[in-house]
Amino acid sequence: MTRTFSIIKPDATKRNITGAINKIIEENDLKIIAQKRILLTRELAEGFYKVHKDKPFFNDLIEYMISGPVIIQVLEGSNAVEDYRKIMGATNPSEAKEGSIRKKYALNIQENSVHGSDSDQNAKIEIEYFFEKKDIVV
Ligand code: CMP
Repeated sequence: MTRTFSIIKPDATKRNITGAINKIIEENDLKIIAQKRILLTRELAEGFYKVHKDKPFFNDLIEYMISGPVIIQVLEGSNAVEDYRKIMGATNPSEAKEGSIRKKYALNIQENSVHGSDSDQNAKIEIEYFFEKKDIVV
């Protein structure tokens, strides 16, 4: 079993579609083994997205990510990182495949409803950034 880190973002919590997103996750054989609804602080959001700090969209991204609650999650599956990226669809919803979370729910390239780790190494870093071992129950 492998793990990935997921965030259900503020556009989704605001529209009350977190259950609908979790349903898609579970129907695709990923198990939610940790989950917490939190309000990100600016510091946490900036630390999490520090690889993007020189990008033109960084400031808007941080304002958006602290604009409402998020659901942080650890997902487990046989190929969690890759499987969740397929289920999420492309970052830009206009390029996302039919049936993916972003195709169905994302509003635009920024308010794209979900985040998922892009590698096993980053999944470990991102999970450890938000969760303690005791929070994860298999
Ligand atoms: P995420 O997968 O969480 O990674 C970085 C986030 O920045 C991305 O999803 C979007 O929410 C946001 N973003 C805004 N504009 C862009 C862009 N042009 N390219 C990539 N990500 C963007």
